Amino acid sequence: MKKGQANASRGLSNMSIKEPESSHPRDVKAAWNSYWSGASTSSRPKAPETSHPALLELWSAFFASTGKANPRLLDIASGDGIVPQVAFEALATSSPDITCSDVSPVALAAIEKRMPSVQTCSCDAAQLPFGAGEFDLVTSQFGIEYAGRDAIPEAARVLRPGGRLQLVLHLRGGDIYQKCRDNLLAAEEFMESGFMQQAQTVFDNLLATGKSKGRDRENPVEIMTPGIEKTVGIINRFGRHVTDGTIDTIFMTVARICRSPSRFDLAEAQHWLKTMCEEMPGYATRMRSMCDAALRKEDVDALVSELEKHSLEVDSPRPISLSGKGADSAWVIRATKVV
Ligand SMILES: C[S@@+](CC[C@H](N)C(=O)[O-])C[C@H]1O[C@@H](n2cnc3c(N)ncnc32)[C@H](O)[C@@H]1O
Repeated sequence: MKKGQANASRGLSNMSIKEPESSHPRDVKAAWNSYWSGASTSSRPKAPETSHPALLELWSAFFASTGKANPRLLDIASGDGIVPQVAFEALATSSPDITCSDVSPVALAAIEKRMPSVQTCSCDAAQLPFGAGEFDLVTSQFGIEYAGRDAIPEAARVLRPGGRLQLVLHLRGGDIYQKCRDNLLAAEEFMESGFMQQAQTVFDNLLATGKSKGRDRENPVEIMTPGIEKTVGIINRFGRHVTDGTIDTIFMTVARICRSPSRFDLAEAQHWLKTMCEEMPGYATRMRSMCDAALRKEDVDALVSELEKHSLEVDSPRPISLSGKGADSAWVIRATKVV
């Protein structure tokens, strides 16, 4: 937001910083909508693990081995459609019959734009508006588990006898979980640190000083010392990369602006900071929902029993490592509905 640079276009009026809300489904939906809308500056970096080569290979192998000329596929909690994209390439048909569902209509709109032949359905994974046995294949990657246990019988219900299911699920205690947990803790601490409110006060003062010449400028460092100390502590403990670098970026940018305010468009800086303040609770909600969704071994055992109750034969669930360092990252579950 240096002078002369393009203005951010969003107009946000509320400057208050809210505590992260609980993972109520309505908040989770809003947080995901904001994420997929691209409106969320603080959550822009896309999670690289969702398109990790090992996962792309896993899906590719699954679709290549379906054994049916033109299977009907339902992907649950599709996000912006990485799994259906692999299906497009791997299924041996020129016009695959693919349905994507997600609680976020914004995510689905992105899929419709990229893959116009795909059908979409905005719904909760625990309440699928499809008939029994409608699909030959049911898939979900880091998605169905957000909807809780009720989503499992639903996935089983819409699968036809002989149909196949593959799920990639968050693994509690794994490296992705650890990252989300650090992001959540850091985001919560940062919101509580007062840094953003103090920076807002400083920006307000700088703007006011600029307008009324001769007024003494309050020392930004004095106003911000408590927030600076806490934020430095957060960055030292969690690392600069935490929250995908957002806290570090906010910290460094505010410092640069305070050091030489005349080089910046302060109204724009104020607007940017307000946006960051508003987006941080949604980011925390999304991170909390990922942590809440992650499954322990006993959760996976319960999930397998649930699938078996609904006539699925389940291969042994296995953890998969995506980090290259051997740490587990996700669960893979495969099952076939008995005929
Ligand atoms: C981590 S993203 C994964 C998206 C995609 N499957 C991928 O691997 O890139 C989780 C997705 O679950 C969706 N979601 C969250 N809660 C849901 C629910 N209760 N029912 C359906 N979708 C949900 C979110 O909107 C989001 O798109």
